[in-house]
Amino acid sequence: MSAKVIDGKEFAANVRAKVAEHVARLKEENGITPGLAVVLVGEDPASEVYVRSKGKSTVEAGMNSYEHKLDADTSEADLLALIDKLNNDPAVHGILVQLPLPGHLNSDLVINSIDPAKDVDGFHISNVGLLGTGQKSMVPCTPLGCLMMLRDHHGSLSGLDAVVVGRSNIVGKPMAQLLLGDSCTVTIAHSRTKDLAEVCRRADILVAAVGRPEMIPGDWVKPGATVIDVGINRIERDGKKKLVGDVEYESCAAVAGAITPVPGGVGPMTIACLLANTLTACCRANG
Ligand code: GUN
Repeated sequence: MSAKVIDGKEFAANVRAKVAEHVARLKEENGITPGLAVVLVGEDPASEVYVRSKGKSTVEAGMNSYEHKLDADTSEADLLALIDKLNNDPAVHGILVQLPLPGHLNSDLVINSIDPAKDVDGFHISNVGLLGTGQKSMVPCTPLGCLMMLRDHHGSLSGLDAVVVGRSNIVGKPMAQLLLGDSCTVTIAHSRTKDLAEVCRRADILVAAVGRPEMIPGDWVKPGATVIDVGINRIERDGKKKLVGDVEYESCAAVAGAITPVPGGVGPMTIACLLANTLTACCRANG
C-alpha cells in the first residue's frame, strides 16, 4: 500500500484564502480590521523565523500585524506591562507570546496574563479548561490544524482508535482533547509508555508529536492508518541539512493509508489556524 499524501500546504492555502475573504468583508461592511500582536523575547533563531513568517501571513490575509521584539534580558514586569497594554488595545484582537521564553521569565504567569479572549494560541488556563470541558474556547493552532485535516480525510472520526505520541501542553494534550471531542477512543503515549510500538500499532489515527527525529518506524503503523506528523526536526545527513518529522516517512508511507509530509504537512496549517483564530477573536470581540 502507498499512502495518500495529505497536502497541508494546499489545505492551508485554502484556509488562508477563506480567512482573507472574510477579513475583506469585515473591513468593507464594518470598517474593522483584525489585528494580531506577536511578542518575541530574545533572539532564538528558530523563533525569529516563525515570528517573521507569522507577521508576513497576517499581512497577506489583510490583517494588521504588530510585532514586539524585546531584549533577551527584558524583566517580567516590563513584559507583563506590554501584555497589559495589548490587552487594553481595541485594535489588537489576538496576542501571541512566542515560546520558549528565556529562563528568567515564568511562562505560565506570562501566558495567563493574556486576556483569554485574545489568547489566539489557546494556552491560557481558562481556554485549556474550556476545551477540556467541551465549551467554546480558543483552540491551540497546531492541534486544530491536525483536526481539520483529519476531518477532511475521514469525514467522521467517531469510534476510531487515536494514539497521540507526546504529552506537551502545546500539542499532545489539546490534540487528545479534540480527538475525544470528535468521539475517538484516545490514548496519550509518551517516553515512559510500556511497549510503545504495540500501542502505536493499535491506532487508526497516529499523531506523532514528540520532537524526536524519525522516531516512529513503519512497522509501528497499522496498515491503512492515518499518520499525522507534527515533528519539525532539523538534522544533518550526508553533509546536508534536512527537515524531518517524528516518523520515518518512507517506511510509514509504505504502510499507512494517509500521511502528512514534513515539510508541507502540519506546519503550514499551524499558521493558517493562527489567522483563523485571530479572525474568530475579532468577530467575538465585535459581537
Ligand atoms: N513555539 C512553538 N510553537 C509555538 C506556538 O504554537 N505558539 C507559541 N506562542 N510559541 C510556540
